[in-house]
Amino acid sequence: MNKILHAVLGLALSAAPLALSAADGITVHHLTTVNSMVRVSPSGKYLLLPVEESIGDSKVTVVVDGKAEREFFVRLARNKADYYVPFDISPYKGKELLLDVIAPQRKGSVDDVKRDICWGAMRMADTYDTTNREHYRPVFHHTPLYGWMNDPNGMFYKDGRWHLYYQYNPYGSKWQNMTWGHSSSTDLVHWEHHPEAITPDALGTIYSGSSARDPHDKNKIWAMYTSAGNAQVQSLAWSTDNGITFTKHKGNPVLTLESEARDPNMFWDKEHGQWVLILAHPLDYEMLFFTSPDLKAWTRQSAFGKGIGAQGGVWECPDIFKLKAADGTEKWVVISNVNPGGIYGGSATQYFTGTFDGKRFTADTDKDGNIPTRWLDYGKDHYATVSWSDAPDGRRTVIGWMSNWQYANDVPTQQYRSANTLPREMKLFKAPDGMWNVASEPSPELLSMRGDAVATASFSASATPREFCLPETNGGVCEIVMDITAAKNSKVDVTLANAKGEKVVVTYDTKAHTVAFDRTRSGNVGFSKDFPCVTTSPTFERNGKLQLRLFVDRSSIELFGNNGRATMTNLVFPTVPYQTLSVSATKGAKVKGLKVFSIR
Ligand code: FRU
Repeated sequence: MNKILHAVLGLALSAAPLALSAADGITVHHLTTVNSMVRVSPSGKYLLLPVEESIGDSKVTVVVDGKAEREFFVRLARNKADYYVPFDISPYKGKELLLDVIAPQRKGSVDDVKRDICWGAMRMADTYDTTNREHYRPVFHHTPLYGWMNDPNGMFYKDGRWHLYYQYNPYGSKWQNMTWGHSSSTDLVHWEHHPEAITPDALGTIYSGSSARDPHDKNKIWAMYTSAGNAQVQSLAWSTDNGITFTKHKGNPVLTLESEARDPNMFWDKEHGQWVLILAHPLDYEMLFFTSPDLKAWTRQSAFGKGIGAQGGVWECPDIFKLKAADGTEKWVVISNVNPGGIYGGSATQYFTGTFDGKRFTADTDKDGNIPTRWLDYGKDHYATVSWSDAPDGRRTVIGWMSNWQYANDVPTQQYRSANTLPREMKLFKAPDGMWNVASEPSPELLSMRGDAVATASFSASATPREFCLPETNGGVCEIVMDITAAKNSKVDVTLANAKGEKVVVTYDTKAHTVAFDRTRSGNVGFSKDFPCVTTSPTFERNGKLQLRLFVDRSSIELFGNNGRATMTNLVFPTVPYQTLSVSATKGAKVKGLKVFSIR
């Protein structure tokens, strides 16, 4: 939307509550207190729809030549336009469009409906302004251009490009209208936005799923996703243009159950010459395994999970892959995202190591014969983490959604909502208890972001904090690294703070072998009672050493300890960026190689 149009809309909006006349090419007929019809003669690429976030969704059916073309939900503004979302009308040039709008139930008369500002504020335009308006928008994390995002899904790597799809609402910044949004990157740092890849149809909206290369046709990418309509069924689509457009399989759905099931994650099992599918069976708190010769006919093989691990909420967004340790040990890993029931409430990612014979996964047990509950990340904003298929060099690279269902719809942004975590490499390591665990190392590409070091130091930490400045440019985004060797029973505090007294305190406790992340006074914490919290991760060492890496990106901090053995991802909303870093220790610690890198 251009500036002149903004000004025109500004004037028009200030004229409310008188009913506004509709813009050129748009006529509105009010039928009842909940039903209106908007007739549009398309001129331009977009119909811009005004959104008021705090009111309910209107259901819009787009009718062309008497046929329902599509249906979506949008919070059409009554009192004020918080922002506009574009509906692409270019395919309908030369035709008449009818939007049949069903608004939420309300008290009052049709005259009240006429005064809703949306009818006068809808406009057609050739451009839609996506210039960033948000000071919390991350610089080096992937975010959608505008609108709501949740789970990453369907990721594949091909010809040097990392394709990332995601649960997307193109008509607002709250969860709705699930569509596969699409971005891609050649370096996992810079992301290019692409058109929506898979859009809702008569079977439902498009929930999470996976993608994989066809084993017999290298140029074909298969996507499997959940069609979420009256029930949840599994559907197929394929792409022969590197994931830009997908054609839906005519025989959809390809898999139905008699109970809720979603988020199909399939891979070609070379060893057994079959497709393997892991599917969330959310309400039974388990995952199901199926096999198929062709992705279309599926045979149920086994179930995994009932009664084990975290059982406090639905099991969703599964993944399964094999990892190899440096000593040649191989382990299969099953990822099960769980919500609620996460370690600090709400959403979190648990995993199991074990064996898989092509039909059945058997989890490893600890020395007492129990299957332990283990978390891939001990922060509060790490969910729906799954991996890329076909990553190069045998890598198993994952990415998560950096939020929590407890408050994801309420975080203080508006033009967009939610970012992804940084990409991470899955690595096996032996924990002090003798079990093979999974570390999440920051992907090596992230090293390329490092700019100048604005602080460099090695020193002995004491009770008096040593203070350093964080970068002043770019909203203070930076990467902080340091190697801590702490005295016995010492607690080492690493604090990020601003002049308003807002701070995040990271505490390495050498007695408990833990690292904690306190965001209770990190800035704006008041938008949800579930937001202020302290999260704690084991450091998986017993030697008083913590190699720490912190990535600070406007509204998030990711902590990696000892090469991703300890990982914590937490959102923060400081009202001004953190300006200082200070380090202190109750009983002494040596800090080596502290560096604060600005981000290029
Ligand atoms: C997880 C989830 C998935 C589902 C998607 C819908 O966050 O609930 O199970 O596919 O979100 O957007």
